[in-house]
Amino acid sequence: MKFEKVLSIETSCDDTSVAVVSSTGFVHGMVSANQDLEHAIFGGIVPEIASRNHNANLLPLVDELLKKLQLKIEEIDGVAVTNRPGLIGSLIVGVMTAKTLALTKQKPLIGINHLEGHVLAPFLSDAKWPASDLQFPYVALAVSGGHTALYWVEGLGEYSILGSSIDDAAGEAYDKFAKMLGLPFPGGVQVDKLAQTGNRKAYDFPRSMIHEENLQMSFSGLKSASRRLLDSMSDEEKEKHKADLCASFQEAVADVLISKLERAALEMNCTRLVVTGGVSANSRLRERAEELCASRGWKVYIPPTRYCTDNAAMIGYAGALRLQRGENHNMELAPSPKVWAGDFKAGQLLKGRQARVPRT
Ligand code: KG4
Ligand code: ZN
Repeated sequence: MKFEKVLSIETSCDDTSVAVVSSTGFVHGMVSANQDLEHAIFGGIVPEIASRNHNANLLPLVDELLKKLQLKIEEIDGVAVTNRPGLIGSLIVGVMTAKTLALTKQKPLIGINHLEGHVLAPFLSDAKWPASDLQFPYVALAVSGGHTALYWVEGLGEYSILGSSIDDAAGEAYDKFAKMLGLPFPGGVQVDKLAQTGNRKAYDFPRSMIHEENLQMSFSGLKSASRRLLDSMSDEEKEKHKADLCASFQEAVADVLISKLERAALEMNCTRLVVTGGVSANSRLRERAEELCASRGWKVYIPPTRYCTDNAAMIGYAGALRLQRGENHNMELAPSPKVWAGDFKAGQLLKGRQARVPRT
């Protein structure tokens, strides 16, 4: 059977997203609802609000997309849904909806690891974005609000963790830094904007673990250093130097991520790199990844922003490929806040070191 039109659902955090995707990676359509405004007043994501909004938004989004594509639900080939890892209340809404659709319309159902979606996102294409020439294997840096890790991607379902943040995700550091500066949530994109006119060398933020000869990262020290620096400044000073603060902070994050990405590529002797996840929307990180690859003669693949941040298209692609090879979770599928034991090749030895499974 061909999986030309798989309906996919993503509700692992605060974005509600629905897509129809082919096993070729072509996205027929995608609609998403963002809850940023509702969470902004609390300065971060409130899980209860996120799941209630998913509940209200999800089925109307499915209807909207099918209408837009002039598709009947009977015409879809299967249903894919993010069932792990994520906020449990949010995942429950997506999984229960996907199960109901699959059961009532007698379609195969597949649960997808959200992180698999992120690492496969550069294979997506649509009417405005051509298919890439990316091939396995490659090194992927997946960096977002909830996860920051380097993966060795050898094929569908063949992922090893090369290294990860031992504490906070880079996006979390971005959001906290922005909050300390009084910028609206989610802060990453605001910091990026302000940094455009700032001096990257104005402030010396720490680059934790950058010189350690491994692929582990840490961003909690950067958060504490930011707190100490900003607490020592008056509101007028912070306002006056906002652009410099943002540019310097952004450079520190990019330095760490790019240096670990380079190290991973050298260790794996691989010239194909992928940068993905919400923080890969960051203009400086993209620029630095391009510069690294230009100077080394490597190639970097970065999805367009709509497929970097949380989206259903990446879930639909992974789902279509898995359904194509005969996988089907049926009604046994359950949501899980953590990844499944077999999701990553755990304990694999890389250059004599144990690869770690990151916290999710
Ligand atoms: O992948 P994503 O949409 O959701 C998670 O799975 O976490 O990533 C969201 C994260 C947030 O921390 C947000 O601040 C960050 O990505 N982000 C950015 C930018 N756009 C989004 N960080 C830095 N620069 C950006 N332009
Ligand atoms: Zn994500």
